[in-house]
Amino acid sequence: MGRLDGKVAIITGAASGMGRATAELFAAEGARVAVTDFDEERGREVADAITAAGGSARFHRMDVSQEESVAAVVEAAARDFGGLDILVNCAGIIGVDKPTHEVTEAEWDALFAVDVKGVFFATKHVVPHLIERGGGSIVNFSSIYGLVGNDEFTPYHVAKGAVTMQTRQDAATYGRYGIRVNSVHPSTVLTPLVEGIAAEFDGGLPAYEAMMTANQSIRRLGRPIEVAYGVLYLASDESAWVTGVALPIDGGYTAR
Ligand SMILES: NC(=O)c1ccc[n+]([C@@H]2O[C@H](COP(=O)([O-])OP(=O)(O)OC[C@H]3O[C@@H](n4cnc5c(N)ncnc54)[C@H](O)[C@@H]3O)[C@@H](O)[C@H]2O)c1
Repeated sequence: MGRLDGKVAIITGAASGMGRATAELFAAEGARVAVTDFDEERGREVADAITAAGGSARFHRMDVSQEESVAAVVEAAARDFGGLDILVNCAGIIGVDKPTHEVTEAEWDALFAVDVKGVFFATKHVVPHLIERGGGSIVNFSSIYGLVGNDEFTPYHVAKGAVTMQTRQDAATYGRYGIRVNSVHPSTVLTPLVEGIAAEFDGGLPAYEAMMTANQSIRRLGRPIEVAYGVLYLASDESAWVTGVALPIDGGYTAR
C-alpha cells in the first residue's frame, strides 16, 4: 500500500532536481501526479519515466509567473484526475548574486515573479479545488535562506522569506477548510540549479561543497530524494495534525 494511494498531486517545477524527485516518489507511493514545468522537453521525460515505471502522471506546460497559464493548467489537471488533493510549489530560480544596493528593479521583479508570485498564483488557483475536496495539503519550497540570511543572492533569500510567510499565513487561513500548508527549507542540494552555481565557483564543485557545508553538522550536499521524503511526509495523511511548520532539511545548518 502506498503512502499517497488515492491522492492527486500537482507539482510545479517538476522537470528537474527536487521537483522531479518529488514527482517520482509521489507516483511510487500511489499518487496520480500532474507534472508541471515551463521546460516542456524535460517535463515530458519525467512524466514518461513515471508512466514507464508503472506510475500515473501527465505533463502540463505551465509558467508559474503567468496567472493565465497557472489557472488553465490547474483546471486541466483537476479535470484529468477528477480533483486535486496536494499542491507542491517547487518551481524556483536563483536570480542575481548581488547585494541590495546593486540589484536593479528588473532583476528584483524577475526573481519575485517566479519565486513569490508563482507560489501565490498556484495556491490561489488550487485552493478552491482543495476546498471542494474537503481538505488537502500544500507544501512550499522555501530554503534555509528563508529562515536566516547570508551575504549572497539577496533577492532570492528575501523571496524565500516571503514564501516562509505565505506558508504561515495560508496555514492560519485555510485550516478551517481542512487544508494544511507547510514549507520545506533545504540547505544546498546537488541539483542542476546548484551545479550551475558550482561550475562558476573558483575550484569547482568540491570547493563549493566545502564552503557551502562548512556550517552544517552533516558536511555534505543534500540529495534531492532526501528532501522529497520530507515533502512526502507533509503531503501525506501521516502529517494530518501538522500545519504552518517550517521544516529544515539541511544537514543541521540551522541548528548551529
Ligand atoms: N538546490 C538547492 O540547493 C536548493 C536549496 C534550497 C531551496 N531550493 C529551492 O528548491 C526548489 C527546487 O530547486 P532545484 O534545485 O531542484 O531546482 P532546478 O533548477 O533543478 O529545478 C527548478 C525547476 O523549476 C522550473 N522553473 C523555473 N522557472 C519556472 C517557471 N517560471 N514556471 C515553471 N517552472 C519553472 C525549471 O524549469 C526547473 O525544472 C526551488 O524553489 C529552489 O529555490 C533549492
